Amino acid sequence: MDADVLAPSASPELGVPIAPSGDDPQWWRSAVIYQIYVRSFADGNGDGTGDLAGVRSRLGYLRDLGIDAIWFTPWYPSPLADGGYDVSDYRDIHPDFGTLREAELLIQEALALGIRTIIDVVPNHVSDQHAWFQAALAAGPGSPERERFWFRDGEGPGGDEPPNHWPSPFAGETWTRTTNADGTPGQWYLHLFTPEQPDLNWNHPDVRREHEEILKFWFDRGVAGVRIDSAALLIKDETLADVPENPGPGEHPTQDRDELHDVYRAWRAVADGYPGTRVLVGELWLPEIDRFIAYLRPDELHTAFNFDFLARPWDAAELRASIDQTLTAHAPVQAPSTWVLSNHDVTRPVTRYGRHDSSFAFLNKRFGVHTDRQLGTRRARAAALLTAALPGSLYIYQGDELGLPEVEDIPLELLQDPMHFRSRGVDPGRDGCRVPLPWSGSAAPFGFSSEHATGEPWLPQPSDWSAYTVEAEAHDPGSMLALYRAALRIRRDIAAIDAADIEWLDLGPDALAFRRGDGFLCITNFADQALALPSGAELLLASEELSPQGELPPDSTAWLRPQHVALEAPTTTRKA
Ligand code: NOJ
Repeated sequence: MDADVLAPSASPELGVPIAPSGDDPQWWRSAVIYQIYVRSFADGNGDGTGDLAGVRSRLGYLRDLGIDAIWFTPWYPSPLADGGYDVSDYRDIHPDFGTLREAELLIQEALALGIRTIIDVVPNHVSDQHAWFQAALAAGPGSPERERFWFRDGEGPGGDEPPNHWPSPFAGETWTRTTNADGTPGQWYLHLFTPEQPDLNWNHPDVRREHEEILKFWFDRGVAGVRIDSAALLIKDETLADVPENPGPGEHPTQDRDELHDVYRAWRAVADGYPGTRVLVGELWLPEIDRFIAYLRPDELHTAFNFDFLARPWDAAELRASIDQTLTAHAPVQAPSTWVLSNHDVTRPVTRYGRHDSSFAFLNKRFGVHTDRQLGTRRARAAALLTAALPGSLYIYQGDELGLPEVEDIPLELLQDPMHFRSRGVDPGRDGCRVPLPWSGSAAPFGFSSEHATGEPWLPQPSDWSAYTVEAEAHDPGSMLALYRAALRIRRDIAAIDAADIEWLDLGPDALAFRRGDGFLCITNFADQALALPSGAELLLASEELSPQGELPPDSTAWLRPQHVALEAPTTTRKA
């Protein structure tokens, strides 16, 4: 990225530079966005919890990796009942992570390195410690304070039964009963997630106004976009109707309701009031791509996470179907696709792809599933190149660039994730992908915490992680880090190929091969035999070493530049 393009302009409010001038409004369309789970990225003050000081000290690492933006998972004050997705104040920073001033400095320092900042907003629910919820509890039934939430009387004798049994993505009931000031059982309130995360009532004007103000608060500080948590859940059926057996489009009482589009139109108007593009990225887990795509309009969200691809098994036909479906659906709305291999909620790719069933579904997570880590690592390397070659934006979850596996042997008493507890211990939960990163050295905390650390990492790191440190991998040309660095360097040229277009080439049922423009070819071999590569093409990068005959080994991807050679005729042309 051209440093001049990012020359900052002065902010009247802070007296310091906050917004890029001469900004490229298209920056987000092919951006590489690196997800930081703040608690686990780097610990600057040595208390065992990652923080903003830690991130600031590692910005050079992120610049060298070659990213365009950071997405920070929630960094606000929070009791951390759900890893920060229980926000008690949307306009400040968690004291364990630092201060608002540090966040402002971080946004500017990153920008000076060409890295934009995307923050997480959590509109569906707040923490039960949020001032509004505390006020609602204190004000009692029938009060205006309770109208901002979903308080209802219970069913049955004495109101002892919850108002309904809407399902929770976290298992268990979605209503909790309150206690009145005199100690008697009171009303119930709705929480689609944990009881510590009461749902807001998005039909209330205060709720809408407040979130638009929160967006402005952060955009004023130079934030380049927001990732919208649980973006499909905000609006609920006020009649509290049960979930139909096979809900048709827009018929689910708590998901993807048509009125939701008005909320995001208002948000887009706020974002469009700022220079450059302040991007709105939806976390939309929706089974139907048409309903998903309906959020991506010029006056709504810019992009949304493509979870379909992430959930598919390591299989050529499955992944091709997902790519086709994704590109086809995005083309008419002119929104770029997104490619995501993992995040802080799902099993790490190195582990997932090393399993007999390499698909992903929250409901299928179990302890003790056999994993071939070597195989998983090969496939994760191949997948990294496959996704980085596709048109659109790319998300990288911290630690995937090091090839970190899911940590599956965290002692039970140290697990923190409510998904584990609410499943009554059946689901191992999400702690295994949230273990603090290893940076250097041969023993825990592997450089995660500063030298004079007083606290242990908040989740224990496996003792064999010395092989995964940034320090170790930076010196190993065969490491996952070396692969990511090389890939992101080359990707800048690929992204510049104006091709929202890919052309599939037919190299057999166990290969995915496509061309972008005339100058770039990506081939992934899913077979257990090596695959002959088109002759005369220049190898740009491969996830594994080619065989002595120049063939692409199983479970690997190669990037090539065709040279004066007619490749096989394209079978299909895709426009995205
Ligand atoms: C999605 C987030 O990614 C996840 O971590 C969180 O638990 C839920 N939304 C609830 O906020």
